[in-house]
Formats: sequence, C-alpha cells, structure tokens
Amino acid sequence: MDRGVVVTTSKSPSGVLRERAHGLAATWDLPVVERHRGSVATARGTAATVLVCTEEGLVAETAGGRLAFHQGTAAKRLRTLRHGGTDPLIRAGGLRPGDRVLDATLGLGRDALVAAWAVGADGEVLGVEADLVLAVLADDGFAGSVPRPGSAPVRVRHGDSRQVLAAAAAVGERVDVVLLDPMFTDPRASDHGFALARDHTVPTPLTPEWVELARAVARRSVVVTAERARPWFPDVGLERLEGTRSGRWFHATGGAQDAADGG
Ligand SMILES: C[S@@+](CC[C@H](N)C(=O)[O-])C[C@H]1O[C@@H](n2cnc3c(N)ncnc32)[C@H](O)[C@@H]1O
Repeated sequence: MDRGVVVTTSKSPSGVLRERAHGLAATWDLPVVERHRGSVATARGTAATVLVCTEEGLVAETAGGRLAFHQGTAAKRLRTLRHGGTDPLIRAGGLRPGDRVLDATLGLGRDALVAAWAVGADGEVLGVEADLVLAVLADDGFAGSVPRPGSAPVRVRHGDSRQVLAAAAAVGERVDVVLLDPMFTDPRASDHGFALARDHTVPTPLTPEWVELARAVARRSVVVTAERARPWFPDVGLERLEGTRSGRWFHATGGAQDAADGG
C-alpha cells in the first residue's frame, strides 16, 4: 500500500460519494481517510498527496496545489481534427482507424485522447504512466465523458513503460504504434498546460534503449517528442517530422514484425 497517497471525500459526502472513494481506494490499494468535516490538509496528514472525491470529480492535492483531470490542449487539437485539420501525432504515427496504440508516457492523456479519436471505436489505446497520482487521475477521467463516443476507450496502467514494453516484446505482443513523450529536461520547453502536473511527473530520460524497446513492440511506428534532436537519433531510426511549427515531433519505423509477416 502506497502511504504517499491517501483518498478522502469532500466535507459532507453523500453515501454514493463515500462508496466511490472506497471503490477507488480498493482499486489502487490506497488507504481511505474519513474526512469528519476536517480540512483537506488534515486528511492528507503526512502523505504527499490526498485524492479528494468530490461531486465534481477527483482532485489531487499536495502542499503545492491542486490538480484535476482536464483535456487541456487536447480539446483544441480535437476541434481542429473535427474540422478536417491534421495533428502531428497522427501524421507522425500514420494512425488509422482500428489501430492499437500504446502510449508509454501517458501523463494526463492529451496525446492518448487524440490517438483515441484517430483510431476510432474499433481501435485500442493503452496508456502507461509511472506516477500513481497521474495514473489514477487519468483512469478516473477516462471513465467519464471523454473520450467521446466514436473514439477508442483509453485503458490506463500504472507502471514503468520500459518494463511493460520489455515484457510485451518478450512474449511477442505487438501494437501498431508506440508513443514516447518523456518530460523535457528544460521545464521552460514544456507544454504550459502540463506545468501543474510537474510535481507528480517522473523524469525518466529519453534513451536509445527506451526507443529500441518501443520499436521492438511497434509494428508500424514509434512517435517521439523531444525539445531537440539528439546525436543518437539516426542510430535508432528517428527522423524529424517535417512541417510542424515546434519541430519537436520525431518518428521511426517500427521494428516488430509478426511471424505471419515473415519476421
Ligand atoms: C510530458 S508528460 C506526457 C504528456 C502526455 N503525452 C500528454 O499528452 O498528456 C510525460 C509523462 O511520462 C511519465 N513517465 C516518465 N517516465 C515514465 C516511464 N518510465 N513509464 C511510464 N511513464 C513515464 C511522466 O510521469 C509524465 O507524466
């Protein structure tokens, strides 16, 4: 049980809300702290984060602030797509309806939402997030009104995606596209909308080994975002996606072949 995170409710919870809090705690093996009309800070006690179940949704509170699931920049990207525009993630991955996508750095799932729209109801998106609080917030968010009907469901798993990818590669499990959007080393280069989540994020560095693991599982492509190209990118087949304003999107062809493909 992770004592760094506890679950509570808003001040005067309904029976349904208390049940939700207990259900959430059981799912993620977290302790519940009864609120007894006390403050959120009291409920948090010595834990780093308290997850507060409220009628409006789940909120994560630390000493530094509050964070809730929200679509952020994905809302604008989805609007562009619905109006016939394109998105660099879809172009970089060559995403198509029916694809299986593994988002190896889920965060609060903005890229996963765009991928879910692109692969549609017949596709699948699995998001892996190393930070427990972000994984819980994303899982709770994706159980609500997003993604919209017509998109693939987004399943959330808490863990280190390097291990998930290695385990998948070992048993020959494949997806069509793997996304890798690790934390940028320079926080100023990051998406502003993600700043609040920074307290929770795990700063795994982007390495050739991580990209190779992703290529071993991806049939078609691996999509990477990085604030700049690294000298080793050509060694793992990574090329910059042309035609973006930021220049931060890179892609490589997948290395995985099914036995049926003769690989
Ligand atoms: C820049 S954010 C991703 C944002 C996401 N693409 C989005 O659109 O919302 C990077 C995320 O990857 C997570 N992360 C870092 N290392 C990881 C690992 N080894 N396995 C899984 N997630 C990891 C971080 O905790 C962080 O939430």
